[in-house]
Amino acid sequence: MNRIPIIIDTDPGVDDFFCIAIGCAFPELFDLRAVTTIGGNNSTDVTTGNALDILKLLHREDVPVARGADSYLVNEFDEPVAKFHGANGLGDVEIPHSDRQIDPLPAWDKIYEQAKLFPGELVLVTVGPETNLAMAFNKYPDLKQMIRKIVVMGGSLDRGNVTEYGEANIWHDAEAGKIVFATGIPIDMVGLNVTRTAPLKQTIFEGTDDDVREDVKDVIRKLIDFRNGEAMHDAIAISSLVSDDIMIWKDAYTYVVDGEVYNRGQTVADYDAKEKNSRVAVGIHLGAYYKVMKDMINRYK
Ligand code: RIB
Ligand code: CA
Repeated sequence: MNRIPIIIDTDPGVDDFFCIAIGCAFPELFDLRAVTTIGGNNSTDVTTGNALDILKLLHREDVPVARGADSYLVNEFDEPVAKFHGANGLGDVEIPHSDRQIDPLPAWDKIYEQAKLFPGELVLVTVGPETNLAMAFNKYPDLKQMIRKIVVMGGSLDRGNVTEYGEANIWHDAEAGKIVFATGIPIDMVGLNVTRTAPLKQTIFEGTDDDVREDVKDVIRKLIDFRNGEAMHDAIAISSLVSDDIMIWKDAYTYVVDGEVYNRGQTVADYDAKEKNSRVAVGIHLGAYYKVMKDMINRYK
């Protein structure tokens, strides 16, 4: 099987750490072309620094980091969410600092550059607000023909986590989410309705190898503790790309509600629509997901 060229668009981020770690851990599956950053969990300066530091820890400083936007399409960023991601955006876990330079291209240009290199092959894994993607689609009208698929951690088919209807990634920049879902590019939506049912606890280390790097294990342990064993949403989205069978999917036409309305950020999945634009996750095989997580841990030696 050919390796899938992917870009991870992210706001690291406690659970974003796990998404990047999985994206780096399976080079036989993924050709990780870039990590592009957006604020949300913290400022874009902080999330970009975190992306660089995470890649250093994972010994993947070959992966370019392209910095993204400093505000959402319409709204400014909110205050950092220290409760979910710590003051440093990484659960207050300290990891070695990287002095590496960011890529000279901004996120949206990096996405376009890579799409032109891999037309029809590039998969975008988006685990933060969709601002960078929307900016890329707005700037480059031919981009949508070049992207194979977008894997979205975002939205919910039941309750949100910011409001009753709004999940953070989509709610923060619902205008961008609306643009991305309307591109016509096949979308795999892994929403909160599924991710919140998949806790990640210290038991994940059971049965993993003894010779996994201590520094990586230590960071993983601390991040799990910071979240009290709750779900690492972003890891679940990319796991679905490691193994399609992890998710129970349902075809739907899915759209995002934007604007300053009570249900801002709602993702509405119409299963009866004639034209479908997405597969939405409606269930998860937990054992298969945990296997990906254990395999990921075992790769860091
Ligand atoms: O709602 C969960 C999402 O919001 C995750 O991507 C998490 O990292 C936060 O940004
Ligand atoms: Ca995230």
